[in-house]
Amino acid sequence: MSANERLILGIESSCDETAAAIVAGGRRILSSVVASQTEIHRKYGGVVPELASREHLRQIVPVVREALEQAHVSLTDLDAVAVTHGPGLVGALLVGVTYGKVLALALGKPLIGVNHLEGHVHAVFLEARAAGRDPRLPAVCLIVSGGHTILYNVTRKHGNGSEQFSYARIGGTRDDAAGEAYDKVARMLALGYPGGPIIDRLAVHGNAQAVRFNEPKMSGNVFDFSFSGIKTAVLYHLRRNLQLEPEISERRRSLERGERSADALRALSGAATLDLIASFQRAVVDNLVSRTLAAAERHAARDILVSGGVAANSELRRTFEAEAGRREIDVYFPSRALSTDNAAMIAAAGYARFVAGERADSTLNAEANLPLA
Ligand code: KG4
Ligand code: ZN
Repeated sequence: MSANERLILGIESSCDETAAAIVAGGRRILSSVVASQTEIHRKYGGVVPELASREHLRQIVPVVREALEQAHVSLTDLDAVAVTHGPGLVGALLVGVTYGKVLALALGKPLIGVNHLEGHVHAVFLEARAAGRDPRLPAVCLIVSGGHTILYNVTRKHGNGSEQFSYARIGGTRDDAAGEAYDKVARMLALGYPGGPIIDRLAVHGNAQAVRFNEPKMSGNVFDFSFSGIKTAVLYHLRRNLQLEPEISERRRSLERGERSADALRALSGAATLDLIASFQRAVVDNLVSRTLAAAERHAARDILVSGGVAANSELRRTFEAEAGRREIDVYFPSRALSTDNAAMIAAAGYARFVAGERADSTLNAEANLPLA
């Protein structure tokens, strides 16, 4: 392997995925292993922090071992260990941080602390470049997941000859993250957990114009988001339309029986429910797209980057692509596998910091609210 093919082990444990990956030269993924805890948190309809930490503890060693095996790499081949140290659930982060620290120390290898949000930005670059495309900077980046909905202006960091970026926060959600709204609405409608993928699948069968949701009125920063209003609007809609109740109970029973496929749930959803789902999704997508485009215009962005779990959404991708097609702008999304939490993006972000000479030491700590900018 050549010098620019430095091998970074990435470790991610900020929420409910235990992940490890080996990335060569910051862009060639040799392995990316993700152990998801969805099954464990499903019955609670959201991530339970204590259970997440416990599961990370069980998974971290086998997941790292699997990543090394799949990449045909041994621990001694590594050039550095990069680990997410925030933002996220503190107990969950601590598992990865402690493990990463001990591993780097035992191996005598450099340790790099990575911000999870920067990882999501790098997920976009990682794949675009592997495909021979290079997003143009400055770019506006929307990170949209179950924990975050945030807009950054991304520029190149000058002066150190490495591939590092600078970030300026343009706006973000004032209440729920978009993915959280998907999950909460799915819970109200008894569509299972996580809500995003199932709503994505069912929405195509409904009329997105059927139910009107008011645009949230935002004072102050026009690039901020709000999704709690739409969640409440869905709740009120259900209270006004009690005829939808029996269907919800039917779906709840179906979920309890373990029948949670899109086909099974669709068979138990009438036109009015499918219309509500489609309208909800349309409102969320319009909100995300319109603010991101406005921010891109204001900041003279040359391209747009979209990352995070909700970036996997088909309607969001379609709408962004259609809107960007009308402008001189490209929109970059990671593949679905790299949109949701993974460690390849952490290794890629860590690589840029490694090349720039950054090193963490034994004081590296988990920081629940670690900001990117
Ligand atoms: O990035 P991620 O794996 O974890 C967090 O950092 O939160 O994102 C998970 C979130 C969940 O809220 C899930 O419902 C949402 O992303 N999600 C989707 C889709 N796939 C996952 N939301 C909308 N459409 C999807 N296809
Ligand atoms: Zn994430």
